[in-house]
Amino acid sequence: MSTSSDPSADRFLSDLNELRAIGARGTGVVRRAFDTDDVRARLWLSDRFTDAGLTPRIDPAGNVWGLRGRLLMGSHTDTQPEGGWLDGAFGVIAALQVARENPNVSVVSFQDEEGRFGATTGSEIWSGAMTPDQADALKDLDGVAFGTARQALQATGGFPDPTRFDAYIEPHIEQGPVLDTTGQVAGIVTAIVGLRQMEVTLGGRQNHAGTTPMDMRTDALRGLSDADYAIRDALRAIVTPRSVWTIGHVAVHPNAPSAVPGRVRFTVQWRDADTPRLDRMEEAIRTALAQIAAATGLSLTISATASLPPADMDAGLRSALAAAAETHAPGRWCNMPSGALHDATNVSRLMPAGMLFAPSIGGISHDFAEDTSADDLVTCLHILKAAAATLTSRPVRSAGRSCP
Ligand code: GLV
Ligand code: MN
Ligand code: MN
Repeated sequence: MSTSSDPSADRFLSDLNELRAIGARGTGVVRRAFDTDDVRARLWLSDRFTDAGLTPRIDPAGNVWGLRGRLLMGSHTDTQPEGGWLDGAFGVIAALQVARENPNVSVVSFQDEEGRFGATTGSEIWSGAMTPDQADALKDLDGVAFGTARQALQATGGFPDPTRFDAYIEPHIEQGPVLDTTGQVAGIVTAIVGLRQMEVTLGGRQNHAGTTPMDMRTDALRGLSDADYAIRDALRAIVTPRSVWTIGHVAVHPNAPSAVPGRVRFTVQWRDADTPRLDRMEEAIRTALAQIAAATGLSLTISATASLPPADMDAGLRSALAAAAETHAPGRWCNMPSGALHDATNVSRLMPAGMLFAPSIGGISHDFAEDTSADDLVTCLHILKAAAATLTSRPVRSAGRSCP
């Protein structure tokens, strides 16, 4: 790696590797919001903020702040159940390194971006999209409430007033194949897709797997299998090649080889850049589920668990990032939408927001195998430092917002 003559890059990579060791599992990391390693990582980060001359603060939602300047940068340090080492961490540690060298920068690690409880919970609360009381009632898949889990990390202050910041920049890995397959070193995000998620329960009749004739079963798992097909069929006429939907979590009850499944609980999540299409997808999914439940004699319960609108990134921040990218990676960067969700969606309700993506090797993320080359990470750090220098040398709000 060609960074030994670059102390800023060395410090950034060494911090990133220190954070990686907290909750390490092989090449990956497990730090679910408010679990022991997530709390350790947040306290470690708070100490790094102090070392860097920032004023550390942990707010009541578990967001960790390093407060100083009016340009806010950061991401999250919680992970997926089988998380990569860079998803969120890259953005926070890159922001920390920028703040070490630029006194006009503050840093944040938002809590529960990865949705142990909701989706982007910490930034949703801070942006006002969800009240603290609503968040406290959110439950994880084991039934633990956000309000209970957050007792594991003591707040050291209240929520920072958003008006103390002019703009937000979130560095992140792409988590998809575009930059890697096209040989780009950086992506400047134009917009982040919207997301909806629901939890579905199909209830049937639990019974003996040996004695219950096939024509006398009300098998909840068979309902899920039919529903998966029916949803795919119903969405065919609505979606574009960029629309996505996922049944990502399934809990079968009693989950025993010799019992006909009596209940199945699963999530359905869908994402698209267009709000009317998100609405049409929702209607089609709900109709397909109702039809399957009626046809199979299963009971059906649906509760909405997440809803985030599509968000445009700010034109002024994009042009500052573009100029910096052209300096540090001439001809090797591009503009692109984000299919992954980010805290920048919520922060864009409060102030201009922008994002810079680093390439993900093989497009792999939400997996222990996720990785990015050190050279690409360092090039993105240089782009971020240059963009921050430009933005903090003039009032950021004059950059203007994108048209709605
Ligand atoms: C967040 O990582 C998401 O896109 O699900
Ligand atoms: Mn992330
Ligand atoms: Mn993620």
